[in-house]
Amino acid sequence: MKIDAWLNERLDRVKEAGIYRNLRTMDGAPIPERNIEGENQTVWSSNNYLGLASHSCLISAAQEALRQFGAGSSGSRLTTGNSVWHEKLEKKIAAFKRTEAALLFSSGYLANVGILSSLPEKEDVILSDELNHASIIDGCRLSKADTMVYPHIDMDDLENKLRETQRYQRRFIVTDGVFSMDGAIAPLDQIISLAKRYHAFVIVDDAHATGVLGDSGRGTSEYFGVCPDIVVGTLSKAVGTEGGFAAGSAVSIDFLLNHARTFIFQTAIPPASCAAAYEAFNIIEAGREKRKRLFSYINMVRTGLTNIGYLVKGAHTPIIPVIIGDARKTVTFAEKLEDKGIYAPAIRPPTVAPGESRIRLTVTADHRMSDIDHLLTSFHSIGKELHII
Ligand SMILES: Cc1ncc(COP(=O)(O)O)c(C=O)c1O
Repeated sequence: MKIDAWLNERLDRVKEAGIYRNLRTMDGAPIPERNIEGENQTVWSSNNYLGLASHSCLISAAQEALRQFGAGSSGSRLTTGNSVWHEKLEKKIAAFKRTEAALLFSSGYLANVGILSSLPEKEDVILSDELNHASIIDGCRLSKADTMVYPHIDMDDLENKLRETQRYQRRFIVTDGVFSMDGAIAPLDQIISLAKRYHAFVIVDDAHATGVLGDSGRGTSEYFGVCPDIVVGTLSKAVGTEGGFAAGSAVSIDFLLNHARTFIFQTAIPPASCAAAYEAFNIIEAGREKRKRLFSYINMVRTGLTNIGYLVKGAHTPIIPVIIGDARKTVTFAEKLEDKGIYAPAIRPPTVAPGESRIRLTVTADHRMSDIDHLLTSFHSIGKELHII
């Protein structure tokens, strides 16, 4: 077929550049020890930071809701898809995030796209961190407002842009709370004080901070003691399930319910997912133990890798990017890790900038000390073999 010849040519170019992607098949529940295509591997790249995805309470809650409500929601929230579980979960999220209200989306991706394409208007401008998640970038692309990108966490540049954009009707600053590929924490306290000074609105995407940052895991708002206008989040990472949300004032949530196309025209997530997520928030609220264990592991892995001689980016978050540099070398590194039973895929352009290919490790509360020992020993021997350290 003509289309195949043309697409194969394009795929060949991707392969030549060392950035070809393919799927890997995992067997069993998302725990660190997993069977991947017949091999036992310890997974070091999951977003299941607190190990809640396979928690028995979440599974029981989902099973009970499945029995009562069925497998699917049957429609969008505004038609036949709304259930008591959606509403209970929204109230739970609002209470957890300490906002007046919350709105569920089918994913964090769709939450960002829906919010950014509906809230800012034509005469507005969005100021967006250069390392923001793809869903924020796509939301900006769909927005009628102009977008200006500021260098990663560069508060001076952000202030300059706020100064230069006074001609716009409204300014929106949008940032990841914890950056997904870099693990850095956005300085939300500084961003909010700039926003106050220049009368801008702040939207923070707390996908990787929800359940993790702050004394009770409420995210970057709690970590910095601040209150952004809109908090976006996902239930697919520390919460261990699926779906996305926006949390904010009752009016902004009412606005999104009426305007965000990814809310209006999307089938609601199944009630069973809501029931499991509701249980996850109960667990997160009830205990600091898992978070404490998670942070002690984060510390061990970061310090261990730095002591071996690696360039480790980011802050104290579960995302630990180990810079290898060259895309091909990073792929080789990931293959050698896999030979040693460690699953941590290579992250390459276009996800990260050229020359910044990395092994993106993520730590979970379910890893064991022996996993950490094996990880550090393996990084040491592979690093020597490939002349990286
Ligand atoms: C920062 C950030 N925002 C949004 C998303 C999208 O969330 P979801 O997987 O629920 O679509 C992700 C996850 O991939 C993310 O890392």
